Amino acid sequence: YFLKYNIWFTAVALITAEAQNTLEYLEVGAKLILQPKPFSGPIKSITWRFNDNIVGVLDEGQSLRYSTAFRDRASVDTTTGVLEISNMTKTDSGLYKVTINNKIQDGGYDVGVIKQVPKPELKITPSTCSNESKSCLLSCDGDITEAGPVTFYFYFQKGDGVWKEREENITIMNDNDTQAVGNFSCRMKNPFGQKDSGLVNNPFYVPPKPVPIPPTVGIVLGVLAGLGVIGGVGGGVYYTKNKSKNDRPSASPNYNANDSDGRPLNGMHSDSKEDP
Ligand SMILES: *[C@@H]1O[C@H](CO)[C@@H](O)[C@H](O)[C@H]1NC(C)=O
Ligand SMILES: *[C@@H]1O[C@H](CO)[C@@H](O)[C@H](O)[C@H]1NC(C)=O
Ligand SMILES: *[C@@H]1O[C@H](CO)[C@@H](O)[C@H](O)[C@H]1NC(C)=O
Ligand SMILES: *[C@@H]1O[C@H](CO)[C@@H](O)[C@H](O)[C@H]1NC(C)=O
Ligand SMILES: *[C@@H]1O[C@H](CO)[C@@H](O)[C@H](O)[C@H]1NC(C)=O
Repeated sequence: YFLKYNIWFTAVALITAEAQNTLEYLEVGAKLILQPKPFSGPIKSITWRFNDNIVGVLDEGQSLRYSTAFRDRASVDTTTGVLEISNMTKTDSGLYKVTINNKIQDGGYDVGVIKQVPKPELKITPSTCSNESKSCLLSCDGDITEAGPVTFYFYFQKGDGVWKEREENITIMNDNDTQAVGNFSCRMKNPFGQKDSGLVNNPFYVPPKPVPIPPTVGIVLGVLAGLGVIGGVGGGVYYTKNKSKNDRPSASPNYNANDSDGRPLNGMHSDSKEDP
């Protein structure tokens, strides 16, 4: 789906001959620097072209000339052959080629000039979308006409929700899965970075009902409670043996907490022997 590309985070993009067959992205406003492949002899003539239009040309024995479109922004070094164009705009996207001493250098430089992605807005449609709807549409919205290749991601806030790459518009069904999602968010990403929308409430969200304690958990808790009581009694006996008989082992919170639920105490008594 994606072409191979390089990106330039700096305000200046130097593209050398080695990178020629790669689509190079630079940001709107940056300076482009294109460096030719090695050539022999001093430059007698040179022509830089952009999509088959002339950027700058030096004909043998004449002075350097630029096309009106590039006159204020471009410069060609007649010793090195390097072309510089400042303040790149979207319309400067395309193929640059150079001819030196009447030899055209093959390949060329494929350049894309793009903006950062905007902060997207997550929209839910139709506007009547509610918990009564069967399905609705989520759109990751924003002006991306100059943002180059953009990928979209959605985030469903549910447990450890993760970002997933999706289409720009996705349908959500009012089913158990979606009902467990609290909020949605979406993300736009291009070669220069990414931005996220805010969290948007899921109209299908159903808050979880309080879960009754399953019987097995109850038994485990009962066993633990029994051990706690026995521990408390054992500790209490040890304590009274080594201290005054009038002292009560009421300091043990375990003992007090489990005293009212004395049921497992007898049943668990034999186990207390394994208790160190
Ligand atoms: C860059 O180009 C934009 C739009 O063409 C223009 O408004 C701006 O003044 C230019 N900036 C420079 C430094 O040339
Ligand atoms: C939708 O939500 C309203 C109020 O929030 C509630 O009264 C109604 O029962 C819900 N309907 C469904 C189908 O869940
Ligand atoms: C996504 O939906 C919006 C309207 O919500 C529409 O304008 C846009 O064309 C859709 N995009 C795609 C790729 O279907
Ligand atoms: C969805 O929930 C309903 C009732 O809450 C249940 O009957 C149904 O089996 C659930 N479906 C799935 C796929 O979990
Ligand atoms: C949705 O996000 C808001 C804002 O962060 C948060 O206050 C709310 O608790 C979230 N709702 C759910 C159901 O998670």
